[in-house]
Amino acid sequence: MPWIQLRLAANEETAEKYSDWLMACGSQAVTFIDAQDTPIYEPLPGDEVVYWNNTVVMGLFDASHDMDKAIAYLKSIHPDKDGMKYKLEQLEDKDWEREWMDNFHPMKFGERLWVCPSWRDVPDADAVNVMLDPGLAFGTGTHPTTALCLTWLDSLDLTDKVVVDFGCGSGILSLAALKLGAKKVIGIDIDPQALQASLANAQRNGVEDRLELFLPKDQPTLQADVVVANILAGPLRELAPVIMNYVAQNGLVALSGILEEQGSELQGIYGQWCTMDPITVQEEWVRLSGVRNK
Ligand SMILES: C[S@@+](CC[C@H](N)C(=O)[O-])C[C@H]1O[C@@H](n2cnc3c(N)ncnc32)[C@H](O)[C@@H]1O
Repeated sequence: MPWIQLRLAANEETAEKYSDWLMACGSQAVTFIDAQDTPIYEPLPGDEVVYWNNTVVMGLFDASHDMDKAIAYLKSIHPDKDGMKYKLEQLEDKDWEREWMDNFHPMKFGERLWVCPSWRDVPDADAVNVMLDPGLAFGTGTHPTTALCLTWLDSLDLTDKVVVDFGCGSGILSLAALKLGAKKVIGIDIDPQALQASLANAQRNGVEDRLELFLPKDQPTLQADVVVANILAGPLRELAPVIMNYVAQNGLVALSGILEEQGSELQGIYGQWCTMDPITVQEEWVRLSGVRNK
């Protein structure tokens, strides 16, 4: 079906309101995009949605929709009627689902590990293949922080190791660790949907019997050989003692979700427990890693 897209310039204060307006004048779906390409994480259920300072609110309309009427309506309620910044675009008549699926390809991390969408053939049947579909919960491997953690896991010998995946999201790191030979993975996330997604993805990969999943309030006490935490710098700072409690003496830890400018501060914090490796950078994100020996 052909579509018309209406882009409306907004900001932190107006984004939500403009979204309601677009829905009120017949938009079938509304998306927010950053006009300046600033990275932002998905909000958790129940969290307040954080919008960018320069947001574009995009409404998708059926091509037969009366757009003159929609724009007249928007101008009638917009605070700056004549200055309302908007753009109309005719979208090609494509099979959008097909297009979306075509954009996800198997991705290789490190030497052995592939993450493959379930509708694709695995490029190397002898490799370590994690089958994963892009879903609601964060983590398909396309984000640099996930990629940094996957590459780190691939570089380790995980045979018979116990691994903690703190902030497991889709479970991608847990699945990778299990497929790379870990004996058991404990996945922890504050989002119950993430735990559901991790379980479903583990079942799809046939590794659910070696994955245990917990909300933080139920998290077990244990010492793991390997701990990976891809959350944000704020929680990594606050939860450093909790995360380090999981790391056994001589155990390994990797942390990501950290912007380049935040790297040295966190390196210092985790350096209280560990000998840290040099910081690894991908795009504007970093991975910290180290061995617990203090
Ligand atoms: C950036 S995603 C990472 C997902 C996946 N591990 C990956 O590497 O792609 C961060 C995840 O951490 C979870 N999270 C955020 N704060 C947390 C906390 N304090 N305790 C546990 N999980 C947390 C979020 O719900 C989210 O699923």
